[in-house]
Amino acid sequence: ASTTEVDVSAIQPGQAIKAVFRKQPLFVRRLTPAEVAEANSAPLSAMRDPQTLEERTKEGHNDMLVTMGVCTHLGCVPLGAAEGEVKGEFGGYFCPCHGSHYDTAGRIRKGPAPTNLEVPEYEFTSDTVIQVG
Ligand code: FES
Repeated sequence: ASTTEVDVSAIQPGQAIKAVFRKQPLFVRRLTPAEVAEANSAPLSAMRDPQTLEERTKEGHNDMLVTMGVCTHLGCVPLGAAEGEVKGEFGGYFCPCHGSHYDTAGRIRKGPAPTNLEVPEYEFTSDTVIQVG
C-alpha cells in the first residue's frame, strides 16, 4: 500500500490544506486554541459517533487534525479546507451535498452522515512532517 508524506510546517492555526492519499482527498488542519477548546468542551453524549479530540489526533499534536476529505454519507468532498469556504454550523467542515455538518474535530454533529470523517493511519516522522498510510 502506498503512503503519502505531507509537510505541515506551513499550515497556520485556523488553516487547512488538501492533499491526496490513495487517490482520495485528505484534509490536514491546524486548529486554533479556540477550536481545540471547542472540540474538548463539546458534549460527547450529543454526538452520533462520540470520540474525543485526543482519540482523533496524536499525542503532543492535538491541534493537528488529519482526516479524509470524504463525507461519510455518500462520499462528497466537504467544504472548509480552503480559505473562505463555509465550515458549517460547528466550525469544521460542511458537506453541501445533503447538509452534513462536522465540528472542529471532524466529528459529525448534524445531517445525514453516519460517522465522523475518517482519520487515516498516520504518524509524525518529524515535528513538521506526517506520513499517511
Ligand atoms: Fe455529504 Fe450526503 S454526501 S451529506
